[in-house]
Amino acid sequence: MPSVSRIVLLLHGPNLNLLGDREPEVYGTDTLADHVARARASAAEFSLDIEDLQSNAEHELVEAVQAARGRCAAIIVNPGAFTHYSWALHDALAAFDGPVVELHLSNPDAREPWRRTSVVAPVATGSIVGFGGDGYELAVRAVAATLG
Ligand code: DQA
Repeated sequence: MPSVSRIVLLLHGPNLNLLGDREPEVYGTDTLADHVARARASAAEFSLDIEDLQSNAEHELVEAVQAARGRCAAIIVNPGAFTHYSWALHDALAAFDGPVVELHLSNPDAREPWRRTSVVAPVATGSIVGFGGDGYELAVRAVAATLG
């Protein structure tokens, strides 16, 4: 069992369970399991342990963030479309003490206007967007560097 300070919660929001199949021209052909495996392999290099959850339900993501308080060292979150309007997720993340990395496969700022608002960005330590699956390694690196 890793010590509390080495657990990183990797959260995925709605429709990301369809990765690999869903709009591959935007999101690529890797599945969610592929991305999680990549994050886990990167995390191991830094002696970090990934716990992951994907949910299409806002309350399950909020509850996961709440349960991470005092237990997980950091959160990496791709909130999917909740990025753009979930103030509940915003508030939950604001109440989390450790680093929060907002992660997107695509670059929402380069897409439709409604994707240009992130209500998660203001409560994130930083955001990694537009690098596809490479973003997982970058996000883990960012967490490791922030935790020291
Ligand atoms: C996404 C971008 C969001 O705008 C979209 O709703 C998603 C995926 C991404 O990873 O690029 O579901 O978060």
